[in-house]
Amino acid sequence: MENVLITGTTSGIGKAFAEKFASMGNNIILVSQDRQKLEQQQLYLQNQYHVTVNFIAYDLSKENAVDLIMEQICNWNIPVDFLINNAGFNECGLFSKTDISKEIKMIDLHIRFVTQLTKRILTIMEKNNYGHILNIGSTGSFIPSPSDAVYSATKAYIMSFSNALYGEYRHTGIKITLLCPGATKTEFARKANIEQTLLFKVAVMKPEQVVKIAYPKIVRGKRLIIPGLYNKFLIFCSKIMPLNITNKLTMIMMNNY
Ligand SMILES: NC(=O)c1ccc[n+]([C@@H]2O[C@H](COP(=O)([O-])OP(=O)(O)OC[C@H]3O[C@@H](n4cnc5c(N)ncnc54)[C@H](OP(=O)(O)O)[C@@H]3O)[C@@H](O)[C@H]2O)c1
Repeated sequence: MENVLITGTTSGIGKAFAEKFASMGNNIILVSQDRQKLEQQQLYLQNQYHVTVNFIAYDLSKENAVDLIMEQICNWNIPVDFLINNAGFNECGLFSKTDISKEIKMIDLHIRFVTQLTKRILTIMEKNNYGHILNIGSTGSFIPSPSDAVYSATKAYIMSFSNALYGEYRHTGIKITLLCPGATKTEFARKANIEQTLLFKVAVMKPEQVVKIAYPKIVRGKRLIIPGLYNKFLIFCSKIMPLNITNKLTMIMMNNY
């Protein structure tokens, strides 16, 4: 039994991970913004799986979010064995038209928060030479995306960060894994108003499917997991095609149909 801290658990991929890890008998710390949803999720997981579930309700893009989380887990005296950096959102559109305040919030959540929290948790994991960190990237980690420039750039950061940490920790008891899903049917596309794009009309996976594919590979400590053949194919194409072609194809994928 491990203590698993998951960010962004109230819907989508994080919710599916919370259920999977609880069903395997792990204690869970849920971290998201919506207190009411977190209370319901806590009750559900505790009743269903008889594990201990705590939660923290906070906007993780705020500057003091990491201090608040560390203070809380220290008060609870819960050593985190497994961290899942999952919370995220998107702000799509041509860069001149998108909302800069949302983009800065995204950079704060996807980059600053993830970097700070990972450092603090790794410091604790190093003492026991034991732990696992799962970072959620995206197919966009590999593909600079016109119409989604800031999002894909933040996910490229997460990929580079995760792969570099993998190199630092690969001969220790600490595992680092990067999961790069493609279009997944969660609240993500609705919130970003991209449900009608070609990207979200072709080969969209369910979050439970993503987690089902990823879980055994995570347990084995794989460095990189790309769920689904279509997503593997997209990433392969992006590696062999010249940028001007992937740019054009990405623009088409991000158009409404
Ligand atoms: N869905 C896709 O197509 C797709 C594809 C590739 C990668 N991903 C990545 O997968 C991860 C999960 O996304 P999802 O698809 O499951 O989306 P989702 O259904 O919208 O879930 C996102 C979760 O993150 C939380 N969250 C967002 N902003 C937050 C903030 N500022 N502070 C605290 N919590 C916050 C949300 O909680 P609240 O509701 O409380 O805000 C929610 O629980 C993200 O990192 C996303 O970039 C998604």
